[in-house]
Amino acid sequence: MPITESSTRARATLARNHRTGHSQLAARRYEFTCPSPDSYPFQWAWDSSFHAIALTHLDTRRASAELRSLLSAATPTGFLPHMVLWQDDLRPTATADFRIDLWEGWRSVTIAPPVVAHAVERVHRATGDGLWLSRVLPTTLAFFDWLHTHRTDPGTGLLEIHQPDESGLDSSPKYDAALGLDPLDEKTVRRAWHTSMRELITDYATPTRTPESPLRERRRFVWIDVLLNTVYADGLASLARLARTAGLPERTSRQLAERSHAIGAALLRHCWDETAGAFHDLDLVAGRRSEVLTASALFPILLDSVPTAVANRVIEEHLLNEKEFWRPYPVPSVAATEPSYDPEFRTGAIFRGSSWVNLNWYLHRGLRRHGYHAEAATLAERTCALVAASDTRECYGPEDAAGHGARSFGWSSLVLDLAAPSTEPTEEH
Ligand code: GLC
Repeated sequence: MPITESSTRARATLARNHRTGHSQLAARRYEFTCPSPDSYPFQWAWDSSFHAIALTHLDTRRASAELRSLLSAATPTGFLPHMVLWQDDLRPTATADFRIDLWEGWRSVTIAPPVVAHAVERVHRATGDGLWLSRVLPTTLAFFDWLHTHRTDPGTGLLEIHQPDESGLDSSPKYDAALGLDPLDEKTVRRAWHTSMRELITDYATPTRTPESPLRERRRFVWIDVLLNTVYADGLASLARLARTAGLPERTSRQLAERSHAIGAALLRHCWDETAGAFHDLDLVAGRRSEVLTASALFPILLDSVPTAVANRVIEEHLLNEKEFWRPYPVPSVAATEPSYDPEFRTGAIFRGSSWVNLNWYLHRGLRRHGYHAEAATLAERTCALVAASDTRECYGPEDAAGHGARSFGWSSLVLDLAAPSTEPTEEH
């Protein structure tokens, strides 16, 4: 039984990766679930949001604590970092291991896809705890305001990122051209990516760098990422519902809902490719679309503001296309028709073809939203089969279910949510 087996493995991972303590440098207590004890020992923002959603099925106290710890790392300006390096003893080696620039010594200056708003909504729905919501909602709203103020590209109205890892999709081949990498050189692509990232970070690293530094003016990497913008619009829709639940003025809720719709509309206007039937990222430095077909090109099927006819084309022509994404263990992070498709993890670089539980979790929601219930059930079942076969790994082979990358990997425990009856919030709630 893949579902039972995968749930057992997810539970064990969430227990193993639990971390609590007191950080001297940050001067506060923490409680979170690390993505992987060996590879990723700190708190990562979108990972933690997925962990909290998985934990709603196991331990709602922990789910609530996970998000409180994460949001306690927000800065007074509203910025929420991708990485929070709580542990004083582990921190010294981290800057050598990861390509990061830190703010006040313990948080990254980079963002992650803002999954946190949807996670707050899910945890609140599981607990009904109004006091907890009153504590976390202002910080979450402030972060979304921060994104709006500091990361909106005036030309498109969409959020921009300044490093590939801000989308969470680090080595996706969609960034190869902008980073000057040869996508087909399997042996060197991973090393070349690291070299290119180090150059970028060194270039950005001034003693006065803050999360608000206007990096777009440097014209090094300015990118509109479809996945990140979809997650943002989804989060704004969650916040609109939460604002109403929390009794905030009606205009706050209305403005959030409008912003969510505006992002969906801007994705359609600027990223939708009518010929290809897919959404493409924009490279604002080169002034062109990135046409590499990756799983993020499918993400807007999640949004209410994307017309059904558009979503159906994405689903029928790509997601359910056996030559591209509907492989034996879907959904590969890169279409199987792309020359850079790396299903066996030969490059050792992430998001170059492997299947990922968090991407599947989103696309499962998108399929359900458009009435593809049987296909959504198949996707959930095959995702659980990955975890049952190869345990909670960072990513999996879309052809053979082999596990790759980090072990005891936290967000693969989202199978607990995939296996559960739908708890999808809707606009009516
Ligand atoms: C890698 C991924 C990033 C993730 C982190 C921890 O850096 O690219 O998205 O948050 O690992 O799992």
